[in-house]
Amino acid sequence: MILAPSILSADFANLGSDIRKVVSAGAQWVHVDVMDGRFVPNITIGPLVVKSVRSVTDAYLDCHLMVADPDRYLEAFAKAGANGITVHAEAGPHLHRTLTRIRELGCAPGVALNPSTPLSTIAYCLDVVDLILIMSVNPGFGGQTFIDAVMPKITEAKALAAGRNILVEIDGGIGPDNLGMVLDKGVDVVVAGSSVFGSPDPEAAVRGMFAIADSRKH
Ligand code: DX5
Ligand code: ZN
Repeated sequence: MILAPSILSADFANLGSDIRKVVSAGAQWVHVDVMDGRFVPNITIGPLVVKSVRSVTDAYLDCHLMVADPDRYLEAFAKAGANGITVHAEAGPHLHRTLTRIRELGCAPGVALNPSTPLSTIAYCLDVVDLILIMSVNPGFGGQTFIDAVMPKITEAKALAAGRNILVEIDGGIGPDNLGMVLDKGVDVVVAGSSVFGSPDPEAAVRGMFAIADSRKH
């Protein structure tokens, strides 16, 4: 399992220290939720914060752009130090072009699907996809409840990814209670926001999630 704690639920006044905690506990990725107040109702952070985060960690920066017309910002996130840039299939008219551009910028292209969006949307883009992000909540806020109806989509995404270099990531409402269930479906990357940074001890929360993942291997 690759664990990607979402800094959306971190303490922004102590972001560097929060990130160091989860990375030292074993998290390989840091998930950065970018919201523009248009594609989703909330507004969060932009490339400036990614640049600051880059300066405090070598961890993989997994930037999830919940923004309309994301092409406008791809270069800024790449220059700020993003490793992966994930855009929503619903956010712009020319998904294949957007994903190709992300790759040209030297980042790993990802595509995110809202709970209501079918996987067929990306069937003809797989040659330019390194990551499929399955939203298990409606994007916009941390701390929401996992939507069980997306479970079959994980299985379908793993089938689409088979034989290709594509990771499947799940995002929204994941914690110790349902981690095992999504890992059993074959998810490669798990995003966790409130269950990590909302916990009084984020390091222990990360270690707890790896213990669950390890127990599933046998
Ligand atoms: C939701 C974001 C998620 C969010 C997950 O729009 O994309 O990454 O931070 O938070 P939790 O784990 O609290 O659902
Ligand atoms: Zn996210």
